Amino acid sequence: MTLILALETSCDETAAALVRDGRDVLSNVIASQVALHRRYGGVVPEVASREHLLKIMPVLEQALSPLQHPAEEVEAVAVTHGPGLAGSLLVGVNVAKALAFAWGKPLLGIQHLESHLYANWIGEQAEAPTFPALCLIVSGGHTGLVLMEGHGRYRQLGQTLDDAVGEAFDKAARILSLGYPGGPAIEEAAQAGQLQRYRLPRSWLRGTHDFSFSGLKTALYRLAQEERRREASLHYGPEKPKQDRPGALPRLSRAGDFAPLSDQVTADLAAAFQEAVVDVLVRKTAEAAAIHGVLEVLLAGGVAANTRLRQELALRLNVPLRVPPPALCTDNAAMVGAAAYYRLIQGEHSGLDLDVQPNLPLS
Ligand code: KG4
Ligand code: ZN
Repeated sequence: MTLILALETSCDETAAALVRDGRDVLSNVIASQVALHRRYGGVVPEVASREHLLKIMPVLEQALSPLQHPAEEVEAVAVTHGPGLAGSLLVGVNVAKALAFAWGKPLLGIQHLESHLYANWIGEQAEAPTFPALCLIVSGGHTGLVLMEGHGRYRQLGQTLDDAVGEAFDKAARILSLGYPGGPAIEEAAQAGQLQRYRLPRSWLRGTHDFSFSGLKTALYRLAQEERRREASLHYGPEKPKQDRPGALPRLSRAGDFAPLSDQVTADLAAAFQEAVVDVLVRKTAEAAAIHGVLEVLLAGGVAANTRLRQELALRLNVPLRVPPPALCTDNAAMVGAAAYYRLIQGEHSGLDLDVQPNLPLS
């Protein structure tokens, strides 16, 4: 039995977890900074790293609370060392290094996207992985298709050429005045939406496994602005409000925010946006799964929490789909402990000179 203490501070969650044998979670503590960053409409790196400093020790203590003698019981210390925000990563990496040194235990630096993938094998019910597997990674900072040929063996098949899917959801939510974080807000608004009302364009990038979402975001923006003008003209008559330049935003509700649209238009646009994203992700994943003859497909990253995406993928694939439990889709430390276990049993560990790598690729 191998017990790993894992830390995660790559973005805006301060997290620590105890994971046994890569799948049993003894504790999983997450201090979210969402409320703090909401007023800025996104993560502010400086604010995030300061908050990690305040939260890391209480989070760590809570995560270790199931143990009587952590220094003896924990067999290794794992931590996300990239990709992510440098100032945020530094907090987790330095605490992990201090603990590994003080306890005389191995230290493991874990790549953030790899940890998202390993969220698929957490839990007593989780079946052992079968390779080759196709991984659809859809997080706030990354989007791509990766062929996983074994533990720690990855081949990048394609990636986004512009926005990551989570980023696109966050920007779309801003355009629709739905707040931050955008993914859950769009999903919720879309539930009341009618899909027939708007059709947004899809970028297929045929012949590649790459993605592009910036055109979709621009199309949503144009449509939302058209609707804002239409709704404003219903209120003010056909004359545009004075402050409008041609093609400019009709009005701003709060500094930097778009004026709200009616609930139904918002819901219909959210539904159209979500549908366009899901359509592209699902079709391109199914195509890659067939081309590469994989035995299963893994979904990973914050956007994996999206119900529509999970449902449509399950319907469209000819091979089993694995999805992490919703609570383990967004950033957490349990997934770091799971990924670290497979590295550790292969005899790997990092040196105490482990450093943060804000652009660390999956390899
Ligand atoms: O993986 P993650 O927690 O952080 C990164 O490593 O980037 O992903 C966060 C992203 C955010 O952009 C958020 O809007 C998106 O995941 N997200 C969702 C949902 N829940 C979170 N997107 C769509 N539908 C959701 N239910
Ligand atoms: Zn993440």
